[in-house]
Amino acid sequence: MAYISPALNVMMAAARKAGKPLIRDLGELENLQVSMKGPADFVTNADTRTERILIDELTRVRPGYGFLAEEAGAIEGKDKTHRFIIDPIDGTMNFMHGVPHFAISIALEREGQIVSALVYNPATDDMFVAEKGHGAYLNDKRLRVSARKALNTSLIATGIPFLGHGDFARFNAELNAIMPQVAGIRRFGAASLDLAYVAAGRFDAFWERDLGAWDIAAGLLLVREAQGVVSDLTGGANMLDTGSILAANDPLHPQLLKMLKQVK
Ligand code: IPD
Ligand code: CA
Ligand code: CA
Repeated sequence: MAYISPALNVMMAAARKAGKPLIRDLGELENLQVSMKGPADFVTNADTRTERILIDELTRVRPGYGFLAEEAGAIEGKDKTHRFIIDPIDGTMNFMHGVPHFAISIALEREGQIVSALVYNPATDDMFVAEKGHGAYLNDKRLRVSARKALNTSLIATGIPFLGHGDFARFNAELNAIMPQVAGIRRFGAASLDLAYVAAGRFDAFWERDLGAWDIAAGLLLVREAQGVVSDLTGGANMLDTGSILAANDPLHPQLLKMLKQVK
């Protein structure tokens, strides 16, 4: 059984509450997708509503805590030692297109350290959680990163820059370095779930640049608690500030880091 702290319990309840209407929305999006107007406004509303529910629910039970939320930005709390880091819908493009691969991501930071984490995909009801020092779980199953040691059998996830976002030339250079050495590369479109999948041993590694703290705060604890290694792309620990991340198991992390560092 997973150890679930009172705070994580609150986070799980908030995520389930905010996730329910998203499942309804997914059906509606299939209709909007083929309409002339398209789903853009609808999705913006779903984003703000989800974040509102999460902030309201969390504030009700933890009134003093601050927030860093994708839509609302930084909200100061009376309690300066705790804040929730939230992405209400990670994988918006998937959600908008009716692809059931997106997640609510919530991390609890205490004195600068992530101590509780949740990544919840309402469409599949996959609830990934972790508590610092107590392991990572998918629903009730303990998670462990993969045991693969060799790049040539590894499945690696990444994020591809897109219109108006990221460094295209640098990404292409990184891809050219990694692609010939590995068994496969995937771009699933939700960084929080990419990290959760590394924690679950589904992906052997994940790297991406130009992310927000809300994309990765929860996922990085999932990977660490599943015995994985997480760093930024210089090998340091400033993932939340730099928005760059490499997550992998112990044997693969140094191999990939070396290759990525060599890319100019
Ligand atoms: C995005 C997803 C995606 C990543 C983008 C993020 P959003 O978050 O995590 O996988 O490649 O950089 O912005 O916009 O769907 O919350
Ligand atoms: Ca995101
Ligand atoms: Ca988002």
